[in-house]
Amino acid sequence: MAQAPTSERYTAVAMTLHWLVALGLGGMIALGKNMYDAEHKPIEWMFQLHKSVGITILVLMIARVLWRVMNRPPALPESMKPLEKRASHWVHIGLYGLVFALPLSGWIMVSASPFSIATVLYGTVGWPHIFGLPELALETRQALYPKIEQVHEIMSWLLIALFALHVVGAIKHEISDDEGVLKRMIPRLFGKTAPPRAPARGALLAFGSAFAFFGIIAGGPVIAQSLGGNDAGVQAQAEGNWLINYDASEIRFSGTHSGDDFSGVFEDWTASINFDADDLAAASANVSVATGSARTGDTIYDNTLEAAEWFNIAAFPEATVVLSDFVAGDGAADDEMVAQAALTIKEVTVSVPFVFTLVEQDGVWTMTGATELSREALYLGQDSDATADWVSADISVSVTVQASPVTP
Ligand code: HEM
Repeated sequence: MAQAPTSERYTAVAMTLHWLVALGLGGMIALGKNMYDAEHKPIEWMFQLHKSVGITILVLMIARVLWRVMNRPPALPESMKPLEKRASHWVHIGLYGLVFALPLSGWIMVSASPFSIATVLYGTVGWPHIFGLPELALETRQALYPKIEQVHEIMSWLLIALFALHVVGAIKHEISDDEGVLKRMIPRLFGKTAPPRAPARGALLAFGSAFAFFGIIAGGPVIAQSLGGNDAGVQAQAEGNWLINYDASEIRFSGTHSGDDFSGVFEDWTASINFDADDLAAASANVSVATGSARTGDTIYDNTLEAAEWFNIAAFPEATVVLSDFVAGDGAADDEMVAQAALTIKEVTVSVPFVFTLVEQDGVWTMTGATELSREALYLGQDSDATADWVSADISVSVTVQASPVTP
């Protein structure tokens, strides 16, 4: 009796990568086509998920290609016609090409986007924009974005077409009377297949390279920053006649984004205060704030704030505030005062009144004050949201400083 042919199956690693990427791609197409709501407003969590899964696929593909090079896939069945073999070969090349080109074009697209929205993978790991693209002139990015988007979309349709051919081909060969190919990509449990001829090898190189790619791109900016590249920080200032308790002090900003409230603090700042209530004419305060230390509790906001159109921390790591012209207020509370606050961010200075109160308890003074800042006046987020469709036009700043007078 003739023995049924037993096809050699793929390695377990190749199968896992194949099905993971296939699943991811299916989800990516579904996500990609549904990322806008009925009013054609982007649904942000879907964009972030799309970017996260897309980058994951890119990383998995690095491992997959290297694994394939080191673990040759089983040869196509002899029963397949030469034309079918050639077609299958080219469909595979097309699929591999697209599965690399799609995430790469997506990454280029978001890097060149006129909206400087950070990519944070799964809400946790920041993924930087491609070097040089966010720095292009706004007009260039506005012109570039729709073109790359078109390329991305066309490639997604090509992927759908090749994907369909791939699935039809696999099923056709499985149900026709030749040896079949689908069963070779399915664990032995489900199909009559022989184990791979050669033992699996190259796991370290394949997964090590994928991991290294991910680590270098995601970790590069973090390392550069920790080496002092971006976040210059601010030096502690011992000047002034007040000793500040930074643990009990805070500079907070708040506003709305997409209708929701957000709020954050600057974690790194120093101030030198010269203040004597009996000599207001001589009073002054100089505050220095590390712009890269803004923390909102949301990594997407934090990373977006670092971008060129917001704080541009690479070029302007420090913002300063100079308080002067103190006058005792004539408000209801007789301890209320007003000073002029000259705030400088990215070499733009805006002067606003800063109203504050002073309360003393056991020799420790607490200053509580607030002001409003216009994003437009400070040229913050004006490239992508000049009309405040997303982020409120005014940002509230509240300051609490606890300090004790330095006794000579
Ligand atoms: C294998 C990976 C990917 C696939 C299959 C894929 C697929 C898609 C699809 C089908 C769309 C909708 C196209 C349309 O009909 O308008 C889309 C849109 C989009 N993709 Fe991807 N994508 C991938 C990776 C990425 C990556 C890695 C990023 C960014 C890091 C990205 C960013 C975007 C953006 C921003 C849009 C919306 C463009 C717009 O409407 O403004 N994609 N993608």
